[in-house]
Amino acid sequence: MTDTKTSATTSAAPAGSKETVRTQIIESLADLRAWRAQTGSLWLKGQKAAKETRGGADSPRIGFVPTMGALHQGHLELVKRAKADCDVVVVSIFVNPFQFAPHEDFGKYPRTFENDLKLLSEMGCDLVFYPSEKEIYPRGKDSIMAVVPPSPLNDTLEGAFRPTFFRGVATVVLKLFNLVQPHVAFFGEKDYQQLQVVKALVEDLDVPVEIIGVPTVRETDGLAMSSRNAYLGATERTEATSLYKALSLVKTMADAGKDVAEATAAASLLLKEEEGWTLQYLSVCHGKSLAPLTQFQKPYVIVTAAKLGEVRLIDNIVVP
Ligand code: PAJ
Repeated sequence: MTDTKTSATTSAAPAGSKETVRTQIIESLADLRAWRAQTGSLWLKGQKAAKETRGGADSPRIGFVPTMGALHQGHLELVKRAKADCDVVVVSIFVNPFQFAPHEDFGKYPRTFENDLKLLSEMGCDLVFYPSEKEIYPRGKDSIMAVVPPSPLNDTLEGAFRPTFFRGVATVVLKLFNLVQPHVAFFGEKDYQQLQVVKALVEDLDVPVEIIGVPTVRETDGLAMSSRNAYLGATERTEATSLYKALSLVKTMADAGKDVAEATAAASLLLKEEEGWTLQYLSVCHGKSLAPLTQFQKPYVIVTAAKLGEVRLIDNIVVP
């Protein structure tokens, strides 16, 4: 750890306060392990209860928000939730090559580290883990022991269009969990299937992390916030609102007693080819298993993915 590379000092205290919060930056696995060891906090599920039992402020509850950077209000909402719930908040920024297929946008994915750091400091984030690809995949991403989610979670919906995506997500998330050893981790409902994959990961492999899903943060016109929205041109940006309109129409028709086939067919018509849309899926699924439903039966989720020109967008509405 060198001072210049590992820490940034910012004034990130609440308005009116003169307190200064230091957001530390760690880039290497070794430094992260050393940092984690000095927290003195055991890696146990239910750490809040354990801490209360022992009355120990010396055993901080560690909250974790994994990201790929290019942060927006959606990411910051997760950090806010973590701040409210935990003693120490760690955010990772790592554009994970293992979850991108060769033809996808790994190379052009937005990288805005300085701005991300500023935002995180303002939020009072304690630690930013910012590893290089070499740190995470020392023998290369294709030589790592991979975690493959079970079917149908792995290969339905997003998995049908991105067959290696959830393998890449599950593998890196498990590695990050093992390094950060958080008691609780925060994921957005925006990536609904990813959230279910991560929940299954910790349950099936006995990883002592509580997973909290956070509702999707939207622009005022309804478009779900996403780092990939930066790829949209001005006309596309206006047209992009149709995706949430389509989902909302399905929900309205469900509430009016229509069936799934009728509702999804009507909603699909809003995503017009002549406006640049290529619909990949618009489905109603069980809220946990993601099995397709033919009748609206709660809990369900309306999920969609569509390309607008070259930009692939996903969104959903959760009906608990
Ligand atoms: P990324 O796309 O950067 O997203 C990081 C987290 O922010 C995810 O949990 C995602 O669901 C959440 N998020 C994104 N947009 C949101 C919005 N509008 N409202 C609420 N939450 C939102 O998802 C990933 O990175 C990666 O796959 C990762 C989990 C880091 C593994 O590499």
